Amino acid sequence: HVDHGKSTVIGRMLADTGSLPEGKLEQIRYECERNAKPFEYAFLIDALKDERAQSITIDSARVFFKSPRRHYIIIDAPGHIEFIKNMVTGASRAEAAVLVIDAKEGVQENSRRHGYLLWMLGIRQIVVVINKMDLVDYDQAVFEAVQAEYAAFLEEIGVQPLCYIPVSGREGDNIAALNGRMAWYDGPTVLSALDSFQKAPQPVEKPFRMPVQDVYKFTMTGDDRRIIAGTVQSGKLDAGDTVVFYPSGKRSTVKQFETFAALTPERVSSGQAASFTMGEQIYVKRGDLACKEGEPRPFVSRKLRGSLFWLGKQPLTPRKEYILKLGTNRVRARIETIHRVIDAAELANTDKDIIEHHDVAEVTFAFNHAIAFDDPALCPDTGRFVLVDNYEIWGGGIVLDVVPDEEAALREGTFEREQRWIRSAVQQSQRVERFSQRPTLILITGKRHTGRKRVASALEARLFGDGRTVYYLGVGSIMYGVSADLKKREFPNDWHEHLRRIAELTHILLDAGLIVIMTAVELTQDDLKVLTTVLDSDRIEAIWVGDEMTTDLKYDLRIESDFEEASAATRIKSLLQEHGVIFSG
Ligand code: GTP
Ligand code: MG
Repeated sequence: HVDHGKSTVIGRMLADTGSLPEGKLEQIRYECERNAKPFEYAFLIDALKDERAQSITIDSARVFFKSPRRHYIIIDAPGHIEFIKNMVTGASRAEAAVLVIDAKEGVQENSRRHGYLLWMLGIRQIVVVINKMDLVDYDQAVFEAVQAEYAAFLEEIGVQPLCYIPVSGREGDNIAALNGRMAWYDGPTVLSALDSFQKAPQPVEKPFRMPVQDVYKFTMTGDDRRIIAGTVQSGKLDAGDTVVFYPSGKRSTVKQFETFAALTPERVSSGQAASFTMGEQIYVKRGDLACKEGEPRPFVSRKLRGSLFWLGKQPLTPRKEYILKLGTNRVRARIETIHRVIDAAELANTDKDIIEHHDVAEVTFAFNHAIAFDDPALCPDTGRFVLVDNYEIWGGGIVLDVVPDEEAALREGTFEREQRWIRSAVQQSQRVERFSQRPTLILITGKRHTGRKRVASALEARLFGDGRTVYYLGVGSIMYGVSADLKKREFPNDWHEHLRRIAELTHILLDAGLIVIMTAVELTQDDLKVLTTVLDSDRIEAIWVGDEMTTDLKYDLRIESDFEEASAATRIKSLLQEHGVIFSG
């Protein structure tokens, strides 16, 4: 909590362990004297911060410190509620935490809130320091009362601190050495408690996870290779390994790691930035999660249940859409259900159905499209998220669980298909080059009798005339052929299966390198979700024909009902050029 003495404790520890630059302490004392200001150990932190700030930009004070056992970076977080965002930012980079409570003031709102946030951020090594014991005459009973109160709180959230230490930052008791004023205490000092923290094991033994940061294309003509770049968050990857990218489940092999250095590594492991080329060029984009075949898979869904804290001035509401960032993903997210809202300072369940400034809540998010994520215990980086509104981070949280979405079963099928797909010796990229086109499904939809089929035919004729390899497939043609065993679309389950078959059939045609034009009546966003589960979402262009929008479909282009066939075809063609589907002509 604000003013409980965090900076003082750190300053004192630096001073008592001889960690300060030569003459620093004297200099600050002298400056205080000259300005008739009482000396504060906390000033040491500010002084160091200023020094460092000259060369780098920092948002919260970082202090470098060395004990006989190891080196430390101490992040001095602010205690004021207005700066809780800085506290969270600082804490999210920490491996262990020291919570400071003023013995005289006792447990305050932010003592609890910070405790809760530490738990949420996955920090499990915590020491509680009860400071300003000099103000309570070093009374054991006061120490024990504060300890009991805070222990009861931590127990509720399932946190077990390593120890509670009574100290006086100002007087230097029990910081770097035990001293006689609290003869009743014989536990560790702050310094020895820090040294008892365990270094988190490097997550190399965990499953491989690398959120794709960028995909670079070689620019030389005829070179279709792509470099997949990112930072390995856990596990390791060797040249020759099979990588699986989620949410699509597409796979390829690691051909070679690329580096600017002379030596090309044979392996990359957690913490390293990595770039590699693939054996087979597949379509991968930023936000995809690279995993390794044969290792536990991440969760893939359009929905997840998470625990979050909200720092926005405006309440977090199910009515609004936010940007959720997870790994290298940025996805539009909406709250589907608020399970509970918790007052983090009191740790009480409230009966609110909105999430306000400083609240903590458990919610189910629904995204615009499926993403891959993990249990934070397995991989913290892909198990945590932040919420963005208007380019600012207003909240963050952790994944509690995956929530199956409507496409879950279908997606499983797609993963299996990808795994078992019998690969052609002709690469997709060779087909792209041969046909001068990127295989794409062009969906032409709208109300009945608006001329969808006329648009489709005009487009097919135009593209065919240009030399493109294009095929018009009416949904009706599939209905009475491939799907002849199914009933009509009046039956929702059958429609779903029918769509699945259309999607699988299209998948084959796209794999063969074709541009497929398809017409269907009044496709909805739900229909599109089925298609994008089976096919790459950016292999689909949706076109709505007609003045009236009768479904929730998010289309790429709309053609008014009084269209002229030639100009409709021209407009779609420019769209395809703009989206890089066709390259010339
Ligand atoms: P914020 O960063 O603003 O949240 O505060 P903080 O927790 O870093 O507190 P800081 O170290 O700045 O100390 C706040 C006040 O408490 C200062 O005036 C300190 O001198 C005083 N203080 C800190 N530790 C002790 C202590 O052990 N005993 C007494 N008597 N005063 C202390
Ligand atoms: Mg401070």
